[in-house]
Amino acid sequence: MGHPLGKDYLRPGPESFRPERWLRDVDGETEEGYQTRLTAMKHADLMFGAGKRVCLERNISIMETYKAMATLFLTFDVSYSLPQPRDRS
Ligand code: HEM
Repeated sequence: MGHPLGKDYLRPGPESFRPERWLRDVDGETEEGYQTRLTAMKHADLMFGAGKRVCLERNISIMETYKAMATLFLTFDVSYSLPQPRDRS
C-alpha cells in the first residue's frame, strides 16, 4: 500500500540516508510545497511510536538531542572525513 502523496513523497529515494531531505530544495521547491512535504514527513515519523503508547519522554528526548547536537557543534570542528556522505540504501 502506497502513501497518498506517492512513493517518493520523501523524495528522492525514500530508502536512502539523506538528512538534507529535511531542508528545502531551494532550486526546485516552493516554500508552500516544502511546508506540505515537511508536514507529511513529520506525520510519517514513528521514531517514538504513536497513539496511546507513544514514548512518554518524547519531547524531553528531542530537547536533549537538540542540546547535545548544539553542544557537539559548538565544542568541535565537525566535518566529513569521506569525500561523499555515506549512502545507506
Ligand atoms: C531518543 C530517545 C528515545 C526514543 C527514540 C524512544 C522511542 C520509544 C518508542 C518507539 C516507544 C514505543 C512506543 C510504542 O510502543 O508504540 C517508546 C516507549 C516508551 N518510552 Fe521512549 N524513547 C526514547 C527515550 C525515552 C526516555 C529517555 C524515556 C524515559 C526516561 C522513555 C520512556 C518511554 C516509556 C515509559 C515508554 C512506554 C510508553 C507506553 O507504553 O505507554 N523513552 N519510546
